Amino acid sequence: MDSLSERSSRPALSDFLTLAEFESAAQQVMAHPVYEYVAGGAGDEISLRANQAAFDRILLWPRVLRKVIPVETSTTLFGKKLPVPILLAPVAYQGLMHPDGELATVRGAATTGVPFVVSTNTTVPIEELASAAKAPLWFQLYLQRDRGFTQELIQRLEAAGCDALCVTVDTPVLGLRLRQLRAHFRLPPEMKRPHSHDLHADPASVSDPGAYSNVLWSDIDWLRSITKMKLVLKGVLHPEDAEEALQHQVDGLIVSNHGARNLDSVVPTIEALPRIAERVAGRVPVLMDGGIRRGTDVLKSLARGATAVLIGRSYAYALSVGGAEGVAHCLRLLRAEFEYALALVGVASIAELDRAIEWRS
Ligand SMILES: Cc1cc2nc3c(=O)[nH]c(=O)nc-3n(C[C@H](O)[C@H](O)[C@H](O)COP(=O)(O)O)c2cc1C
Repeated sequence: MDSLSERSSRPALSDFLTLAEFESAAQQVMAHPVYEYVAGGAGDEISLRANQAAFDRILLWPRVLRKVIPVETSTTLFGKKLPVPILLAPVAYQGLMHPDGELATVRGAATTGVPFVVSTNTTVPIEELASAAKAPLWFQLYLQRDRGFTQELIQRLEAAGCDALCVTVDTPVLGLRLRQLRAHFRLPPEMKRPHSHDLHADPASVSDPGAYSNVLWSDIDWLRSITKMKLVLKGVLHPEDAEEALQHQVDGLIVSNHGARNLDSVVPTIEALPRIAERVAGRVPVLMDGGIRRGTDVLKSLARGATAVLIGRSYAYALSVGGAEGVAHCLRLLRAEFEYALALVGVASIAELDRAIEWRS
């Protein structure tokens, strides 16, 4: 019996009509500490709530009697055509969420043509993922103190055909993730982590960052000098940092607050996005993540200057509920919602989206 049929007492995937529905179903499937690890944010979770609330505050102002059918959702990113401006964000330890782990995610992404950003903390080696991939694969890098290890890893990523190296720059230390601490979240000792040394820090101490490296601009220069992959910085919130990134020959930026898992009270990403998009002014793609749960959230992000968005928790929940098919269903739902949103706001293609769709009182 495979793992999906073992789960047959659960609702059929076709019963899931929104991304939000995956969370409650996932809560039933996941061990409690794992659910707390995925769902939790840092500190008092002010920013976790704010990421979504900031989207809710943006109201739409549609135009009518325009030709909106067929809607065109495709876009080009780093020379590749994407069916929809959506990527799967790096989410660590997917072996905790489904027995097939990241392999299920890559298969789900394949059926929808959506790029998958594989976490440094993947439980499946990159070569295995690459052989199952039918859509672009990116790799998210936590720079580790051992430079030789990182350099070898980058060679493996290039050999496997990864398109982009996405360096996470918002985690000089891990945030205080109280829910996972209270739930005594621990990685099972048998969990494989083929691309990370022991990254585990003492959560009660900032001065014990484990094997994490406090990434500096000079490290970005070093990475730039040793790879031809597209170099993307994930976790930029300030336009001055965006500007500096461009001086360091970075190819793209992700406006992200790490799903509100690091610094609490940090600005919601949809609020931070416009100033960065304005500053970058089209010189490189600006992506964003944090709080995206609906097609209208994708619409609002693109209207505020994002080239594409990433989703994190939503597909992690879908993965735990339905493996590859769950991830594919989650992506199909978001794509359909986005198509509805575009047509109903009166815009036929994403190239035409701008802040004119936002209500201004
Ligand atoms: C369980 C979990 C694990 C994550 N692991 C990583 C990671 O390994 N590297 C990284 O850069 N971001 C990681 N993130 C952050 C996501 O890439 C992304 O920024 C965030 O989830 C987006 O917000 P959303 O969950 O509201 O969609 C993780 C997020 C979650 C929920």
